[in-house]
Amino acid sequence: MADGSSETKSSNQMWGGRFASGPDAIMEEINASIGFDKKLYAQDIRGSIAHATMLAHQGIISAEDKDKIVHGLDTILTEIDSGAFEFSRRLEDIHMNIEARLAALIGPAAGRLHTARSRNDQVALDFRLWVKEELQKTEKALTGLIAAFLDRAEEHAETVMPGFTHLQTAQPVTFGHHCMAYVEMFGRDRARVRHAIEHMDESPIGAAALAGTGFPIDRHMTAKALGFREPTRNSIDTVSDRDFALEFLSIAAIAATHLSRLAEEIVIWSTPQFGFIRLSDAFSTGSSIMPQKKNPDAAELVRAKTGRVNGSLVALLTVMKGLPLAYSKDMQEDKEQVFDAAESLELAIAAMTGMIRDVTIRADRMKAAAGSGYSTATDLADWLVREAGLPFRDAHHVTGRVVALAEQKGCDLADLPLAELQAINSAITDKVYGVLTVEASVASRTSFGGTAPSEVRKQIAWWRARN
Ligand code: ARG
Repeated sequence: MADGSSETKSSNQMWGGRFASGPDAIMEEINASIGFDKKLYAQDIRGSIAHATMLAHQGIISAEDKDKIVHGLDTILTEIDSGAFEFSRRLEDIHMNIEARLAALIGPAAGRLHTARSRNDQVALDFRLWVKEELQKTEKALTGLIAAFLDRAEEHAETVMPGFTHLQTAQPVTFGHHCMAYVEMFGRDRARVRHAIEHMDESPIGAAALAGTGFPIDRHMTAKALGFREPTRNSIDTVSDRDFALEFLSIAAIAATHLSRLAEEIVIWSTPQFGFIRLSDAFSTGSSIMPQKKNPDAAELVRAKTGRVNGSLVALLTVMKGLPLAYSKDMQEDKEQVFDAAESLELAIAAMTGMIRDVTIRADRMKAAAGSGYSTATDLADWLVREAGLPFRDAHHVTGRVVALAEQKGCDLADLPLAELQAINSAITDKVYGVLTVEASVASRTSFGGTAPSEVRKQIAWWRARN
């Protein structure tokens, strides 16, 4: 390609007017971003076509030059798509690689494309377009994950399992209800994604280097052509703002944190000790030495990817911290963090969606565990309040004594003889046995948002109407 590779030590053809020699090799290495920002080629070309079209419309360049530029850019798009394009590190970044190729293809008209524009607003545009598209993909992926959970929740609206606090058995819940907790979490992630798309829907192009331009450009026209709601309002802010990248990373970090909690539960639930679920062969691996093992590798890797995503957020916050307005080259370090986090998040959501759809729920094991650990003790206390008129604190105390007795006898609450219960509190009648089963316990929790199957079905219907 025509990047003048023969003139290795000569000055740069894009900005070399005042430079007598080219950069030192180390300078070139630290300065170049083409290794990663080539990912932005489609956005860069789209932005340049919109810009050139506007320049011609405003009479700033001729229609003939615009046609040559657009045709040349289309050719370059095809070359890059097909892998024929040769990227050059000497040309620093994607913007200059494309512009140099345009010059080789169409000659002097290429030099008119950069009128009323700077790489500062150009990179802000390209990156914003890329992040916006990534957010749209994330929104779809989250919708798929939510749909997988809704299906499992529906299937298991009645399946009882132990609910935990401190990872100690707390009260029986339904597996459907537990699934719906994740629907809420990923639903909030998706709402954040939608909000961020709204937030960043402003076009940077035309802010130029930082001060705007004296050419009679039409920023509303380019904004519209590129699918933005409107142009950004302050040219200084426009070239120094990376909030859209930080918002993407914050959203990604929170979503990845949610995914890691789910991953951790999958790891725990799939142990032989818990045995609540059986992972499909598709999402687990064996051990090379222990033939009995089935490892939840995909879940573990999702759990680990969260570290990368959270790290990317902290890295970019640290890059941006204390930067004076407007553009500084520090900001070139924004892209790799976002690209890496986006790839990790996409993969993690896809893996989780697959696992949730595939996993076998062992309802018998969940039910057995739900009944152990005196999980219906609160139901007994509530019964004493409701049926025997005890204040809750007294009922709690009586129930504590009942649990101690069951523990001492090594039996469940429902197996204690009535006479022994009455010896602890004479108000207890045989009606109490009706609330001591896990099914009765979950069925009774009909408060809004509670775990009763009837309530879980309402939650599912609410989400189905919104997914
Ligand atoms: N490669 C640069 C980046 O990613 C493009 C903007 C360069 N602007 C400049 N004034 N040197 O930030």
